[in-house]
Amino acid sequence: MTARVIDGKEASGRLKGAIAAAVADMKSRHGVTPGLATVLVGEDPASQVYVKSKQKTAHELGMNSFQHDVPATTSQADLLALVARLNADPGVNGILVQLPLPKHLDQFPVINAISPAKDVDGLHPESAGRLLAGGDALVACTPTGCAMLAKDAAGDLSGKHAVVVGRSILVGKPVALLLLNENCTVTMAHSRTQDLAGVCRSADILVAAVGKAEMIKGDWVKPGAIVIDVGINRMPNPDGKSRLVGDVDYATASHVAGAITPVPGGVGPMTIACLMVNTLKAAAAQRGIKDVAIPTRLPPK
Ligand code: GUN
Repeated sequence: MTARVIDGKEASGRLKGAIAAAVADMKSRHGVTPGLATVLVGEDPASQVYVKSKQKTAHELGMNSFQHDVPATTSQADLLALVARLNADPGVNGILVQLPLPKHLDQFPVINAISPAKDVDGLHPESAGRLLAGGDALVACTPTGCAMLAKDAAGDLSGKHAVVVGRSILVGKPVALLLLNENCTVTMAHSRTQDLAGVCRSADILVAAVGKAEMIKGDWVKPGAIVIDVGINRMPNPDGKSRLVGDVDYATASHVAGAITPVPGGVGPMTIACLMVNTLKAAAAQRGIKDVAIPTRLPPK
C-alpha cells in the first residue's frame, strides 16, 4: 500500500483563498486592512527566509505588513521598547518576533511583553491558557495547521486515537489540546515514553514533533493511519549539500500509513497560512468586527 500524500501547499492554497476573500470583505465593508508586524533580530539565514515568506504572504492576501530588522547586537531593553511601540500602534494587529533570538537575549520577557490581543504566534501564556481553558484563543500556527490537515484527511476526528510525539510549548502541547477539542482520545508521548514504538502503533492519527530526523519508522505506524510530520531536520548529503527530512522515516512510513505529510511541502505551508488567519482574527477582534467569516477549517477541495 502507498499512502495518500497530504499536499500542504495545495491545502494552504485553499485556506489562503478563504483568507483573501475575508480580508477583501473586511476592507470593503469596514475599511479595515489587517496589519502584521514581523521582527527579525540578527541575520540568521533560515529566519530571514521564514520572515520574508510571512511578509510576502501577508501582501498576497491583501494585508499590510511591517518588517522590523533589528541588529543582532540590540539590547533586551531596546527590543522590549520596539514591542511596546508595536503594541501601541493601531495599524498593527499582529506582532511576530521571529525565534530563535540571539543568545544574549531572553525570549520569554519579549514574548510576554506582546499584547495578548496581538499575539498572532499564540505563544503568550495568556494565549496558551485560553486554549487550555477552552475559550476563544489565538492558537500557535503550526499546531493549528496540523489539526486542520488531520481533520481534512480524516473527515471526522471524533473518537480517534491521536498520539502526539513531543511535548514542546510550540507544537506538542497545543496540538494535543486542539485534537482533544476535536474529540480525539489523545496520548502525549515523548522521549521517556515506555514502548514508544508500540504507543505510536496504536495511533489512528500520529503527529510527530520531536525534532529527531527520521526517528519514527514504518513499523511504528498503524496500517492506514494519518501521519502528520512536523519535523524539519537538515541532513548532510554525501555531496556536501544538505536536504530536509522530517521526524518520520518517509520511505518506510509511506508504505504503511493511509495518508502522510511530506517534508518539505506538508505542515510548513500551513503554518504561514494559519498566521494569516490569526492576523485576520486579531484585526476583527480589535476593531469589534463580528460579521467577517474567519476560516476555522480548510475549505473543501
Ligand atoms: N521560528 C520557528 N518557528 C517559529 C514560529 O512559529 N514563530 C516564531 N516567532 N518563530 C519561529
